[in-house]
Amino acid sequence: MTIEHLNIDHVSMVFETPAGPFTALENVNLKIDEGEYVSLIGHSGCGKSTVLNVVAGLLKATTGGVVLDGTEVDEPGPERAVVFQHHSLMPWLTAYENVELAVRQVFKGKKSKAEMREWIEYNLKLVHMEHAMDKLPGETSGGMKQRVGIARALSMQPKVLLMDEPFGALDALTRAHMQESLMEIQNELGNTVIMITHDVDEAVLLSDRIVMMTNGPAATIGEILDIKLERPRNRVELADSPEYNHYRAAVLKFLYERHQNPESDRGEDKPAQEESCSEDMSLRVVSNSAAA
Ligand SMILES: Nc1ncnc2c1ncn2[C@@H]1O[C@H](COP(=O)(O)OP(=O)(O)OP(=O)(O)O)[C@@H](O)[C@H]1O
Ligand SMILES: [Mg+2]
Repeated sequence: MTIEHLNIDHVSMVFETPAGPFTALENVNLKIDEGEYVSLIGHSGCGKSTVLNVVAGLLKATTGGVVLDGTEVDEPGPERAVVFQHHSLMPWLTAYENVELAVRQVFKGKKSKAEMREWIEYNLKLVHMEHAMDKLPGETSGGMKQRVGIARALSMQPKVLLMDEPFGALDALTRAHMQESLMEIQNELGNTVIMITHDVDEAVLLSDRIVMMTNGPAATIGEILDIKLERPRNRVELADSPEYNHYRAAVLKFLYERHQNPESDRGEDKPAQEESCSEDMSLRVVSNSAAA
């Protein structure tokens, strides 16, 4: 029997608030294969970061849990590196030192001092920060800080890379460049990625699967779209591809027609129960009751 790689198993999350308990997530189920690139997409406040934080071990699910390679996740660990929605660099450390902190944690006793230096520089070069390695976070732009955060996560060679809107603060060109680098890096290292994004094109370009979440409260997985575009993917060529545009339209339709209004999720037309509307494009409709 093969052990599942990553299993988000019946995860529900209830937050205690002054106004009483608030159910953010209800019965989120997702199995992810090793090396898979999964994007989470959904409207603001639906619960994407909460899902990611449960996988990171930063939040404990109220019910259900997460199992990685046969071990239950109950705390953060270096095998699950996180790139946070808002940068989380140590303000008193330079870009180099911020990455060094993570590298020391993971490679202490395994790499020599010289090897560590080389590895830190290599990862900062990947995100084009070699010119600003000695700058403090306060001396760099939002996009630069985000890039250091990505370098820090990559430098840990995590089994699972968890990224919460990693390119949100980047200008369009840098963003495109980072997307290309990430595709190359992931192709080379084969790590599993869960990425939250609001950008439909980014999701289609990078993902093997796009997981679309319903609006909260009690958000869950509405649909999962398999992206069967060949790799390596080229954004310019894909722009004219009917397949690519079909996937894009499927995500837009989910977000802006079927789940535009949070109220619609609670109404009788709950789309999670519908039949697949695009069998040929592998648009899978997940019924959580069936998955349970
Ligand atoms: N610690 C908390 N206490 C109470 N409610 C919380 C807490 N954390 C998150 N929530 C609520 O849970 C819901 C999901 O929040 P979450 O941050 O996961 O959304 P999100 O999908 O990541 O949104 P965004 O796209 O804006 O980042 C929101 O309604 C939020 O207000
Ligand atoms: Mg969020």
